Amino acid sequence: MISRLVPPHIAAIDPYPPGKPIEELERELGIKNSIKLASNENPLGPSPKAVAAIRDKLHGLHRYPDGSGFYLRRRIAEKLGVPMEAVVIGNGSNEILELVIRTFVRPGLEVIIPNPSFLVYQLAVHTVGGTVVSVPLKDFTIDVDGVLRAVTERTRLIFINNPNNPTGTVLSETAFREFFAKLPADVVVVIDEAYIEFAPPGSTFDGLGFTASQGPWVVTARTFSKAYGLAGLRVGYGIMDPAVAAFLHRVRQPFNVSTLAQAAALAALDDDDFLEKSRRLVREGLEYLYRGLDALGVKYLRTYTNFFLIAVPVDAKKVYEAMLHEGVIIRAMNAYGLNRFVRVNVGLPEENERFLKTFAKVLAQFDR
Ligand SMILES: Cc1ncc(COP(=O)(O)O)c(C=O)c1O
Repeated sequence: MISRLVPPHIAAIDPYPPGKPIEELERELGIKNSIKLASNENPLGPSPKAVAAIRDKLHGLHRYPDGSGFYLRRRIAEKLGVPMEAVVIGNGSNEILELVIRTFVRPGLEVIIPNPSFLVYQLAVHTVGGTVVSVPLKDFTIDVDGVLRAVTERTRLIFINNPNNPTGTVLSETAFREFFAKLPADVVVVIDEAYIEFAPPGSTFDGLGFTASQGPWVVTARTFSKAYGLAGLRVGYGIMDPAVAAFLHRVRQPFNVSTLAQAAALAALDDDDFLEKSRRLVREGLEYLYRGLDALGVKYLRTYTNFFLIAVPVDAKKVYEAMLHEGVIIRAMNAYGLNRFVRVNVGLPEENERFLKTFAKVLAQFDR
């Protein structure tokens, strides 16, 4: 039995539920032209500048990537006004989260994770045998007082997802500042800003303002997967004190970000037009969706990012299945403990329109 060879903390892991490829779903269900509003991706496609940069690099693929990520790290540092040594790039920001966990956590140490939040945090903590300390959200927002109460001498890491997936809520600068001031020095706080580009200006704080060369130590994680439209390439980065970065470099693979990903991210970083277009699409899409849901009398959570939670009158999986059969892929929130919510990301205007029409049709099937 292979399971006897697997350490118990690995055997106990609930795997992240991967979706099937759209083509496969369509074939199974006998449908065509389905739309996906389930993974908080950018419906505009990739930044065109990134696509051009990738083409330019294709001829060089027989070489290993630049293992130091020199140009990308230098440009990120310039843009953000931090030293280059403060920047670590990763295979998606997911890798940054994992690097932090692998660097700082071991069996017996605790990681505080607000719940519900991004599922990968707990998965990654379990892979190193760390203890997850779950702190329920309050009014769908991270309960910073609850997090403070959960801190013990064994706390090594705290995850703050801002805006939070799946709720779309943010912490105010004041709330975070007060929370931060009460933390012990010997913890690392990961501020996961995967969706920060979509937060309206002034609506929340920025983790970069809290990076310091003494504890509590802050790692701010960001990604090219969302606002920059490069989810399929896998590239993200973390900003932290250079002393922290030096330890993450010990843990990472020497060539963790591919040549194409580095080139594309570098180009996307300066594609301000694309970023602005992405933001506008989300802003306008949300207004449209809110109006449509209001007209249907459906309750939802106002969001600070490109996805939001919608309340449903029956088990969310049923709504998900019914929508799927109509070719609209959304996310049921059962895995997050929110059985009466679905999560939907903003799509192109025509996708938003199709979502609303289909949602109205599906809801009408259920007894409201
Ligand atoms: C909150 C949050 N953090 C991090 C990620 C990881 O993104 P990536 O690895 O594509 O950068 C995601 C992806 O969905 C996310 O929702």
